[in-house]
Amino acid sequence: DIPVITIDGPTASGKGTLADEVGKALGFGVLDSGALYRVTGLAARRAGLDLDDGAAVAAIVPSLRLRFSEGHVFLGTEDVSARLRAEATGLLASQVAVHPQVRAALHQLQLDFRRLPGLVADGRDMGTALFPAAPLKVFLTASAATRAERRYKQLISKGISANIESLREDLEARDERDKNRSASPLEPAQDALLLDNSALGIEESVTQVLGWWQR
Ligand code: CDP
Repeated sequence: DIPVITIDGPTASGKGTLADEVGKALGFGVLDSGALYRVTGLAARRAGLDLDDGAAVAAIVPSLRLRFSEGHVFLGTEDVSARLRAEATGLLASQVAVHPQVRAALHQLQLDFRRLPGLVADGRDMGTALFPAAPLKVFLTASAATRAERRYKQLISKGISANIESLREDLEARDERDKNRSASPLEPAQDALLLDNSALGIEESVTQVLGWWQR
């Protein structure tokens, strides 16, 4: 059995950073499941599809020529990493993620990330839908103000201009959609451990999760 640690939670709660650091500390691989929804949203938009048509969007998933390499995501030969991180792409992702057909189309792709010695899986439904048997499930939260500020700094550091007010509005809208959809709504698994990192630094959050893992 390949050990899996799941980290779920709302937008900009710091899941990606936490997953990367925990993965590094344990030598585990990392699944950024959001990137799969982002790339699907981007490809669907480029193909001119109606994003409300779940069957049509799901149908393009098998033909996506996706490659993950050293933190970069390639669609065919194009490095789409920067495009994927844009807030506009996050919005596309949350639009296609409401469809059960799209979630089903991405299911096996996500399971295939399991490799020895283990996997840290970052997303919304890692502990509930993808890896319900995972021995450690973390549900990471932070206040909306903290999350907007973090996302702002993240974008600015990448040279992308941003507005903190509109970021907060965007992330609250995305949270609403993620929580209220019928397919895999954002909610903690029953056996998830809750971690509110509003007042914690990255190191403290990593230490907490590694402590839970070693217990
Ligand atoms: O980094 P951030 O949390 O803003 O976004 P993300 O994790 O890349 O996810 C983008 C969108 O994809 C989310 O708003 C969700 O709607 C969707 N998503 C999902 O439905 N299930 C996942 N396992 C991961 C992402």
